[in-house]
Amino acid sequence: MELSRRRLLQGIAGAGAAGAGLALAGCAPSAAAAPTDVVDFHGPHQAGIATAVQDRLAFMTFDVTSTSRADVVELLKSWTTAAEAMTRGAAVPGAPPDDQVPPADTGEAAGLPAARLTVTVGFGPSLFTGPDGSDRFGLAARRPAAFVPLPALPGELLDPARSGGDIAVQACSDDPQVAFHAVRNLARIGRGTVVARWAELGFGKTSSTQGSADGDPGGTPRNLMGFKDGTRNIVGTDDAALDQHVWVADADGQGWLGGGSYLVARRIRMFVEPWDRDRLGDQEAVFGRFKDSGAPLTGKAEFDAPDYAATGADGPVIPANAHIRLASPENNGGLRILRRGYSYTDGIDATTGTLDAGLFFLAYMRDPNQFVTLQRKLGTSDALNEYIRHVGSGLFAVPPGTSGPDDWWGRALFS
Ligand code: HEM
Repeated sequence: MELSRRRLLQGIAGAGAAGAGLALAGCAPSAAAAPTDVVDFHGPHQAGIATAVQDRLAFMTFDVTSTSRADVVELLKSWTTAAEAMTRGAAVPGAPPDDQVPPADTGEAAGLPAARLTVTVGFGPSLFTGPDGSDRFGLAARRPAAFVPLPALPGELLDPARSGGDIAVQACSDDPQVAFHAVRNLARIGRGTVVARWAELGFGKTSSTQGSADGDPGGTPRNLMGFKDGTRNIVGTDDAALDQHVWVADADGQGWLGGGSYLVARRIRMFVEPWDRDRLGDQEAVFGRFKDSGAPLTGKAEFDAPDYAATGADGPVIPANAHIRLASPENNGGLRILRRGYSYTDGIDATTGTLDAGLFFLAYMRDPNQFVTLQRKLGTSDALNEYIRHVGSGLFAVPPGTSGPDDWWGRALFS
């Protein structure tokens, strides 16, 4: 039996219990859910990559505890079915309610709109080859050549408890409870086959994929350092840029991964307190952009092209170690990535009494080397390094999208 969350909401309001309807909708940004709040689940690429970035994130990685390949296949099939239903705003499908067994859906999203939920899945290198080099599920030979664990990189001090994982799930939605509900239900369905390894909740998008033409309704979002983020990101509707920098092409010789992508996740802690004591001019020099407008230091408006050749009395106007100079395609042979990160906080760091907050960096790319190239440079020279440290990390091969109801995540890999 399938319950539509929205129909449930309408049912309550229609029965005259408007108060109850409003209360249920209290935390949802748009209770009068427009039809546009459903993102297509099926397609050549998984949703949640080129999709306009939603407001909230629930991210979780899992380790497979079963040794059976059939269990992993079964898990991916049930996850696909559940995720497709939740994306439509429906409950996880299952047997009709029975007071003798737990419900098929945990229930906390009942009444909430679909809220542009996307659920995106990726496979870690450890799914293909175990730590002892073992071919855990007969997949070792199918591991794409480019898919090797990230090397040690400058600027990181990684916590193994917040790194890695055999499978990653990224759930994004405009409603935090809808995003959490999605990963929670996949975790519940996976019991016996996978265990959760680490998780992160993102409370605000730090990056836009909307560009200057459509723009974000509230303008380009800001990260926790107060700067607009995503100004020169890959735009989700720019198919040429996506084909060039984000989607693995069939011609790349990576087999089942054609149409997919690579996801790099980095938990980047920000040292918020010293940053807040830094003078405005220095903060702007760190990024190479003005804090208020987001314009490059060589321009007036946010989307003005940075002029890396411009010099002033003290040398380059955009300093040699400014974040945008080091990260820009102009200075990296045209290299680009699609950033889709979120701000996070996990309360107070008990050892220092400072805020444990930062950027949960998520980026999609055609080859993991795009990230490695950038981070080698940024981790060595970026002025931002005084205020950040990479403390968690994951690399995942993101299979292509599903074609319809009979398809499932990873079918090409396991077939
Ligand atoms: C806490 C860490 C970080 C913060 C606060 C941050 C912030 C920013 C900001 C404010 C911009 C300028 C606006 C824009 O074009 O989006 C930017 C640009 C960019 N960042 Fe970061 N960033 C961080 C980490 C990283 C990392 C780890 C990478 C990749 C390894 C990266 C890659 C880029 C790229 C490629 C651009 C666009 C450059 C351009 O096209 O001009 N960033 N970042």
